[in-house]
Amino acid sequence: MPDAHCAEIDGLILTELAPRVTVTPLAPPSIAPHHQDPMTTMTLQALIFDLDGVLTDTAELHYRTWQRVAEEEGFAFSRSLGDQLRGVSRRASLEAILAGRVLSEAQMTALQARKNDHFLTMLNHMTSADLLPGVLPLLDDARASGLRTAVASASQNAHAVLDRLGIRPRFDVICDGHSVLHSKPAPDLFLLAATRLNVPPSACVVFEDAAAGIVGARAAGMMVVGVGPPSRVDGANLVVSSLANVRLADLQRLVADRQPPAAEEMYA
Ligand code: BG6
Ligand code: MG
Repeated sequence: MPDAHCAEIDGLILTELAPRVTVTPLAPPSIAPHHQDPMTTMTLQALIFDLDGVLTDTAELHYRTWQRVAEEEGFAFSRSLGDQLRGVSRRASLEAILAGRVLSEAQMTALQARKNDHFLTMLNHMTSADLLPGVLPLLDDARASGLRTAVASASQNAHAVLDRLGIRPRFDVICDGHSVLHSKPAPDLFLLAATRLNVPPSACVVFEDAAAGIVGARAAGMMVVGVGPPSRVDGANLVVSSLANVRLADLQRLVADRQPPAAEEMYA
């Protein structure tokens, strides 16, 4: 059960840590994936974007800042561990780096704060030039096609990153590391985004660069486009190397058919 700092809506435990997250009674998704009538063809209605590693390469900043803290503290760290931390919350990332070492709550808090200070220092240098290729054209196409858009990020810095990139107003809904108690790989962030968009999960396509996010989005009943090398995003329904390679028509088919385009039509 949620504690005194949380509220529960439609089975999602929402946190009330951030004043900007208002918990309003929203209509539940009209069609849950397991209730979808097999005879109806779903139409694509919304695009839900992970942030770090999808809209911009802040995944690399998270990697470098955890690496710095690990070096300062004498903890082992590697590229492969860093990749496993993609999409994982700050607290869970630290626990993974500690690999079973037990620290006091005060030490845990201090290390997370230090990592975040390093991250925010690097974030100060970011501008709209750090948007990854294809982001703006895809958002423009989505808007022109009447699709709704959301960000579903485990980061507590999502609003700050979107502001640095100058794209916050382009999204109808932003769910971040303050929004839910159970972060990725739980489906909660994605389900909350769909609920706030007032769109059924099965009408959404999610863009993710991380295994944790792919697991969460699929558990939410959404089709997922993996952005990155197939070895990292192999659980996705469709894999692209960059958002610049995404065509709305293919996303529409992904949602309508509930399966990826035929192999010969895949574009990575
Ligand atoms: C995710 C990143 O988006 O956000 C993770 O992929 C990061 O690497 C997580 O740990 C939490 O970010 P923050 O900004 O709250 O420390
Ligand atoms: Mg990511």
